[in-house]
Amino acid sequence: MSTNKTFTMIKPDAVANGHTGAILDHIIKGGFKIIAMKYLALSKETAGKFYEVHKERPFYGELVDFMSSGPIVAAILEKDNAVEDFRKLIGATDPAKADKGTIRNLYAESIGANAIHGSDSDENAKIEGDFYFSALEKF
Ligand code: PPS
Repeated sequence: MSTNKTFTMIKPDAVANGHTGAILDHIIKGGFKIIAMKYLALSKETAGKFYEVHKERPFYGELVDFMSSGPIVAAILEKDNAVEDFRKLIGATDPAKADKGTIRNLYAESIGANAIHGSDSDENAKIEGDFYFSALEKF
């Protein structure tokens, strides 16, 4: 197991519902080190670009509208086995199927408004982190 990175976004539903602090606390207590972080609002164009890989999926428009509906928190996290361990910490995409005590179980509303994003591979973690952060912004 080697120390590596993952990328996350606290999504508009969780920020609007006041869960940002609790979620960051959950992440830090889970052993992740925050090496870059920013609070920002995505335009439809930027959200559309980030989720371009899902362009052909039926929920793409809904996902882009939702992700540009309010501020988010984007961050790069570091830990041993970061991608896999973070996906475990956040739980299943659909909060109704997320394990008890996971971030989506605790804070998500629905499969669309599901509180948090986590990269699904080391390769995508790098692509997604680079999408939001310049070299100067990473610790
Ligand atoms: S995953 O995590 O990539 O394996 O999940 P996946 O099911 O492929 O979903 C990809 C992203 O699309 C979001 N999603 C939806 N948004 C709106 N409506 C519906 N029905 C829906 N289903 C999935 C899901 O939250 C994933 O977002 P991210 O930010 O990648 O977690």
